[in-house]
Amino acid sequence: MTADVRVIDWLPDGGVRLLDQTRLPAEEVYVDVRTVEEMAEAIQQLKVRGAPLIGIAAAMGLAAAAAREAERGSLTREWVEIAASRLAAERPTAVNLRWAVERVRVRAAAHFERAGAAAGLVAALTEEAQRIWDEDVAMCRAIGEAGAALIPPGSTVLTHCNAGMLATGGLGTALAAVYVAHRQGKDVQVVSCETRPLRQGARLTTWELARNGVPVRTVVDGAAAALMAQGAIDLVVTGADRIAANGDVANKIGTYGLAVLAEAHGIPFYVAAPRSTFDAELASGDLIPIEQRPASEMEVAAGAEVVNPAFDVTPAELINGIITDRGVLAPPYGEPIRELLGR
Ligand code: MRU
Repeated sequence: MTADVRVIDWLPDGGVRLLDQTRLPAEEVYVDVRTVEEMAEAIQQLKVRGAPLIGIAAAMGLAAAAAREAERGSLTREWVEIAASRLAAERPTAVNLRWAVERVRVRAAAHFERAGAAAGLVAALTEEAQRIWDEDVAMCRAIGEAGAALIPPGSTVLTHCNAGMLATGGLGTALAAVYVAHRQGKDVQVVSCETRPLRQGARLTTWELARNGVPVRTVVDGAAAALMAQGAIDLVVTGADRIAANGDVANKIGTYGLAVLAEAHGIPFYVAAPRSTFDAELASGDLIPIEQRPASEMEVAAGAEVVNPAFDVTPAELINGIITDRGVLAPPYGEPIRELLGR
């Protein structure tokens, strides 16, 4: 993030400090988290959000909560298992959450196998969480380098939701490509779709891009088609919450529509994601669990029924390239994804 803002950080006592993203852009307020319940709530309420960042936050939260448990003398293998299951279940679509929590859980299991007791476990879990964060920083940087090469000078990039510094431990994914292109002096501009219902595009993407000096304009989600028809968009780049083995991509609701529109207008559509967002266990996108959010997030008449899926699935056929920390994958994606994940 910019020098003056830390999206996530350790507290001196081992707790975790989060920038409360529900309060942006009006206020920069931080929330301190020291228990599993507090971290679970922060993730569920989207105080911390974005696929890579919720994985990092959950791993750090697990380490922080384990430290308190150790102080009480009640840090056991069973406690770690229960805490890990609780955190991993908070948001079902972003696979990074499950992936990061699993890394911490496996580290704990290995510790108990080797040491037979909890002594030294907190240091090991803290180290694992920090490693997950550090790796994400490096992956974001690599995605930025690979993605910037796809952005011609003078381009207008349309993006959806927030796949930037507020969604990762580092530069972002989709926005990392924009940041690197901007730093390369490519005169890049961004159009940020508002992203109903929680307006991550309007509130968060504009906030961080403006803070970092990248020209950005917000449009209501329904304006994307008209802008494409006018020739005002050169390419679309979005993030991802989970990518299946065939290259189908789950991302914020509305992404699929943008991919259809991009195809109809002959505009390249790219997805950017680190290796931690791929789920090789799932053959295709129809198997990805889609998080349903509460009706309270939408403004409707009292008692009106709503359907509020947080994500949709964009079929691989509509994606011109997947920008990863190991370069840009070209379709068909099956073989390149197997290679990327070393399978
Ligand atoms: O519900 P959110 O705000 O967590 O949704 C986030 C997105 O859909 C992002 O595009 C995705 O997590 C990619 S983050 C680099």
